[in-house]
Amino acid sequence: MQTVHDIAALRDSLDAWRAAGLGIALVPTMGNLHAGHLALVAAARARVDRVVATVFVNPLQFGPGEDLDSYPRTLGADARHLAAAGCHLLFAPSEAVMYPRGRDGHTAVDVPGLSAVLCGASRPGHFRGVTTVVAKLFGLVQPDLAVFGQKDYQQLMLIRRMAADLSMDVEILGVPTVREPDGLAMSSRNGYLSPAERARAPALFRTLRDLAAAVAAGAPPARAEHDATQALSALGFGPDYVRVRRRTDLASPAPEDGALVVLAAAYLGRARLIDNLEFDRQTGTAD
Ligand code: PAF
Repeated sequence: MQTVHDIAALRDSLDAWRAAGLGIALVPTMGNLHAGHLALVAAARARVDRVVATVFVNPLQFGPGEDLDSYPRTLGADARHLAAAGCHLLFAPSEAVMYPRGRDGHTAVDVPGLSAVLCGASRPGHFRGVTTVVAKLFGLVQPDLAVFGQKDYQQLMLIRRMAADLSMDVEILGVPTVREPDGLAMSSRNGYLSPAERARAPALFRTLRDLAAAVAAGAPPARAEHDATQALSALGFGPDYVRVRRRTDLASPAPEDGALVVLAAAYLGRARLIDNLEFDRQTGTAD
């Protein structure tokens, strides 16, 4: 696996692959890779000839007071993991390469509506930063396929919406969340948890399962959301939101909506954990 840091070197490799007629997948990451990221690489490898991963801690998607400075940067280990997973090229640009006009001078991509709810309501500007960097990476790599984790459910929906709205010629693939044996969704931010917090953390997913089961059994979503929020608080979480939404547009479900998703964000110590679970209200099945 080759590692490149600048756009000219990235384009050299990509041009050669394209000239040879090879299909190219992009796996964007912020590094500090875990098994969830490597599952994205595996899914990409199963579909195309060449996989490009990116490692860039994107400052545009962090708000004031968030963890931009402390976000773990582990490029050497990331490169080794990616090579072992069969990734072909790693693009690890500096901020100056990505935003030569500075953070505020860069053209931005904004997906209205969907970017303002749930995580977007608590983290103003976050999704604008995400869609801006992903649009830039799409422009740089021009992949046939781009792969994202379903753990970031709202992010995945926004990227699909952006690609459709801007007629970007790329297929977006979502990959199921990879979990620890106790159910905790893998995340780079799990490293912020103390041992005691780590022991409590799987309760987030358990609470989502209970909430989905309650709604599938007929509980009104607002009541079930309230109960789940109380349960998380009692367990020492600082819940940001717990919501039942319909999958098509993340709006509150109408009584006839069956394809639902429960989404939550909650602080545990200094870690902001997010998770979600798709379920079907009519059949009660979790996906
Ligand atoms: O999901 C992430 O790690 C980031 O939001 C992404 C998609 C790599 C953009 O910086």
